[in-house]
Amino acid sequence: MKITVVGAGAVGATCADNIARRALAEELVLLDIREGFAEGKALDITQTSSLLGFDTRVIGVTNDYSKTANSDVAVITSGIPRKPGMTREELIGTNARIVEDVCKNLLAHSPNVIIVVISNPMDTMTYLAMKSTGLPKNRIIGMGGILDSARFKTYIQKELGCSQNDLHAVVIGGHGDTTMIPLTRLATVNGTPISNMLSAETLKQISADTMVGGATLTKLLGTSAWYAPGAAGAALVESIVRNQKKVFPCCVMLEGEYGQNDICLGVPVVIGSNGWEKIIDYKLNADEQEAFNKSADAVRAMNKVLDELVQA
Ligand code: 2OP
Repeated sequence: MKITVVGAGAVGATCADNIARRALAEELVLLDIREGFAEGKALDITQTSSLLGFDTRVIGVTNDYSKTANSDVAVITSGIPRKPGMTREELIGTNARIVEDVCKNLLAHSPNVIIVVISNPMDTMTYLAMKSTGLPKNRIIGMGGILDSARFKTYIQKELGCSQNDLHAVVIGGHGDTTMIPLTRLATVNGTPISNMLSAETLKQISADTMVGGATLTKLLGTSAWYAPGAAGAALVESIVRNQKKVFPCCVMLEGEYGQNDICLGVPVVIGSNGWEKIIDYKLNADEQEAFNKSADAVRAMNKVLDELVQA
C-alpha cells in the first residue's frame, strides 16, 4: 500500500501522522508546495517511528508528484483554511483552482488512485474532483460527515456522560454550518435511542452545537481545527486500505439516492478497497428528507458558483 497526503498543513500533517501510527501503508508520501515544509513534517513523523512502533516509510516532497506515483489512496487537504468569522464556502475561489490542479497532478502518476477530499468547501470540492477527473464515482470520497459525526458524539457524550465509543450517531447532508443534518432520531447508545434519555430541547442544542462545531473551534484556535479532521481522514483511509467495509457518512455523487441527482453530498456509505461501495438508505422521515433537500439546494448553489468560476 502506498498513500499520499497532499498538503502538509495542520490537517494534512495530522492525517499523515495518524496514517503512519496505524501503519496503514508501507510508504506514505506527504507533499506540499512550500519548499522543505513537507520534508520537515515527514522527518518529524519518521522520528516517532521507534517511539510508537510503526515501520511506515514517510517521505516528504516539495511539489514533486513523480514521488507519489502508484499511490493507492490520496488525501487532498490543500488550500487555505478558514479564519474566525469565515464560512467554509468563502474559500471556494482560491481552493477550487488548487484542488483541480492537485487532482490532475495526482492522476498523471497514479491512474488507479482513490481520492479523499478534505479541502473546503468540501462538498463542492468533491463535486469539482468528480467533474474534473471523470473518475468512476466510487473513487472520489469527500470527508466531512465522519468528522461532523465525531463532533456530534462529543456533544452527546457531554450530556449523557457515556462512552463516545458506545454511541452510534450520524451527520448527513452538507459539511457546512447550515447544511449538515445531525440525525438525532437515529442516534443511539448501545442501541437505545438517545431521544429516550434526553429532552427535545437538549437534542436541539446538541444538534445546533454540532452544526457549528467547526466554527466554534475556528474561533477558539484562530484557524480551522486539525486533530479531529486529521483523525477522521485517517479513519476513512483505514477502511479503504484494510477493506473494513465500515459505514461512514461521506460526501459522494448521488444519482437518485436520497432523492438527489448530480450532486456530491453526505450520505452513509460502505467504505472498502474499491472506495465507496454502496449507499445505505436510512429511510429518512419527511422532516429529515426536507432538511436533506434544503442542504442539497444550498450545496447546488455553491456548485453553480464553481461552474461560473471554471467558465471565467
Ligand atoms: C472542520 O470542520 C476542517 O472543515 C474542517 O474543522
